Amino acid sequence: MLSYNQRPIRVSPSLLSANFAAMGADAALALAAGGDRLHIDVMDGRFVPNITMGMPMVEALRRTLGPQAYLDCHLMIVEPERYVEAFAKAGASQISVHVEASPHLHRTIQLIRATGAHVGVAINPATSLHSIYEIIDQIDTVLMMTVNPGFGGQKYILQSTQKIHTVRRFIDEHHLTAAIQVDGGIGFDTIATVAAAGVDDVVVGSNFYMPDRTPQQALVELQRRLG
Ligand code: DX5
Ligand code: ZN
Repeated sequence: MLSYNQRPIRVSPSLLSANFAAMGADAALALAAGGDRLHIDVMDGRFVPNITMGMPMVEALRRTLGPQAYLDCHLMIVEPERYVEAFAKAGASQISVHVEASPHLHRTIQLIRATGAHVGVAINPATSLHSIYEIIDQIDTVLMMTVNPGFGGQKYILQSTQKIHTVRRFIDEHHLTAAIQVDGGIGFDTIATVAAAGVDDVVVGSNFYMPDRTPQQALVELQRRLG
């Protein structure tokens, strides 16, 4: 857990930047280093151009890491409602679906809720915030994409900062409980900006699993950048 002006900020290390040939060990390392939630990027080659991992990986991680590990599954797939129950069964703690991929979002949210998993809704950089205002009172997490989803190591889209401010204000004014999570290009150079804009949770991939630092050292540097 990091903090900014005494406000706690969760870190969700993205396993997309881990070593896929040593996933269990890298996931355990992230938790041991102080990562709060493991961020698992599920891509289908249709909603996004890339293909990554699915339910078997979630199941294997749950088996390896035990019941305490928080497995936060970010579904970048078309028709996510078809896979909600399977991800919950595999051991997902939270399931986030994209508003762009789910035309009957209200129903999908109910479906996730019924499994007992936490509910997240993800929104792309080009999508208007109006698409989440009708359901934001029903979810645990708003996952704001700060790059176009599909790949790690991309550059933070600057316009995102204003958007984060707007969601923060909306949540506070309506006394809602949804957490704001940001994903994409979050690291040493951007963490202070998104923290000041009011996020609760940062997904960090390429600035967490690094060639020249341990995850623990990366976390220390992230906190240093927060002041
Ligand atoms: C991108 C994924 C992200 C990715 C972030 O589509 O949703 O979770 O792993 O990676 P970085 O932190 O390198 O931008
Ligand atoms: Zn993600």
